[in-house]
Amino acid sequence: MANIVTSVCCVVLAALVVVFAQRRSQQVARIQYEKMGSDVTMQCGSLGDDATVTWKVNGTDVRARQAQDGPRLILMEVDLSSNGLYSCFENPNGERRDQIILRAGTPPKEPVVTCRSNTFPNGFYCSWHLQHPTYIPTDFEVHVKHNQKTLDVLRDPVHKNRCHVKFPQLFSTFKYRVNITAVNALGKASNGISFDDYSIVKPDPPEKVVATPIPKNVRRLEVTWNSPSTWPDVENFPLKYFLRYRPLIRDQWQHVELSDSTAHTITDAYAGKEYIIQVAAKDTEIGTWSDWSVAVHATPWMEEPKQITSTTEAEVILETTPSPAPPSAKPQLGAPLGGSSALLWSSHLLLASILLSVM
Ligand SMILES: *[C@@H]1O[C@H](CO)[C@@H](O)[C@H](O)[C@H]1NC(C)=O
Ligand SMILES: *[C@@H]1O[C@H](CO)[C@@H](O)[C@H](O)[C@H]1NC(C)=O
Repeated sequence: MANIVTSVCCVVLAALVVVFAQRRSQQVARIQYEKMGSDVTMQCGSLGDDATVTWKVNGTDVRARQAQDGPRLILMEVDLSSNGLYSCFENPNGERRDQIILRAGTPPKEPVVTCRSNTFPNGFYCSWHLQHPTYIPTDFEVHVKHNQKTLDVLRDPVHKNRCHVKFPQLFSTFKYRVNITAVNALGKASNGISFDDYSIVKPDPPEKVVATPIPKNVRRLEVTWNSPSTWPDVENFPLKYFLRYRPLIRDQWQHVELSDSTAHTITDAYAGKEYIIQVAAKDTEIGTWSDWSVAVHATPWMEEPKQITSTTEAEVILETTPSPAPPSAKPQLGAPLGGSSALLWSSHLLLASILLSVM
C-alpha cells in the first residue's frame, strides 16, 4: 500500500516537474543580438524542419519584410524598429514554443581614451567612450602596463567608463601603456595609448573662489580661493595659479599669473562695474593648466545711493496699486507729503513761539 502511495506521489511530482520545466522554457525569453542591416534568422525552439509555426511580435502579426521556412522566421535587413519580443506558436494547436527578444545593434569601434593625473604624485585615471552608439550592452576591458609589468586597475564606482591606477614609481623613464577593449555580443575593438607620467598631470580647478569688494575702495576686489582638494600634497608639489577677470560688459579678459599664492587683489577694476572672475591651477614644474574654476561675480564697493524713506515707498505702492502710474508720475507724490510736513513744522514753530512768549 505504502509502495503504491509512494510511486503515485513520484509520478505526480515528476509530471509537475516536467510541466514546470516546459512552462519555464516557454516563458523565459532569450535575447538574440543581431547586426543592423543584416538578414536575421530566428529558430522556434528545437522544432524540426517539418513543423509549421505562427510568429508574433509584441503579440501582433509580424509586418516587417520576412520569409518563413518551417520553424524559422527570416527578417530582412533588421534595424532598431525590428526590436521586439518574438513568440512562435506551433500549428495546429497554437501552443507557444519559444520567445526571443531581438536586439539589433552594431559591433563597437575603437574607443577614444584619455588619461589624466589630478592627484599627482598618487596616481592617474583614464576615461573612454565610443564615438558611435552600439545600441546593445557593451563592456570594456582595461589593461595597463608599465615597464612590462601589468598594473592593478580600479574601476570607478560612479563613472562607468573610468578607472584609476596608482603610479608604481615617479619620474620613471618607462612609458605607461593603457589598452581599452570594447566588447559586445557582435564584436570587439581596442585602442591603446602610451604616455610619460609627467605629461598627463592636470590639476582640478581651484575651489571656493570668493571675490569681495573692499570698503571705501571703488576700484579694488579681493579674490581668494583654495587649492583643489584632490591635489594631495601642495607642500611638495606646489601649484601656481592663473587669474582672469573682466567686467561683464566687456569681452576682453585681463590675466594675472601667481606662484603659490591663494589670494590676489585686483586694483584696476572700473568703479561700479560688475566683474566676472575665474582661477586655474597648474603644477609649477610639469603638466598643463586645469580647467577654469566656477565663475564668481562681484562689484567693487560703491558709495551708498540716497535711501528712499519707507513712508514714500509705502505711499508709492498704495498710489500705484489701483492703476499703475508711469515712473514720471513718482516725483509728484512728494507734493502732498511736503505739504503735510510743512504743516507739522509750522505747528512746531507755533508751539515754540508760545513757549518763548510764556517765558
Ligand atoms: C515592440 O515593443 C517595443 C517596446 O514597446 C517597441 O520598442 C518595438 O518597436 C516593438 N517592435 C515592433 C516590431 O513593433
Ligand atoms: C589591446 O589588448 C588586446 C587584448 O586584451 C589585444 O588584442 C590588442 O591588440 C591590444 N591593442 C592595442 C592597441 O594594444
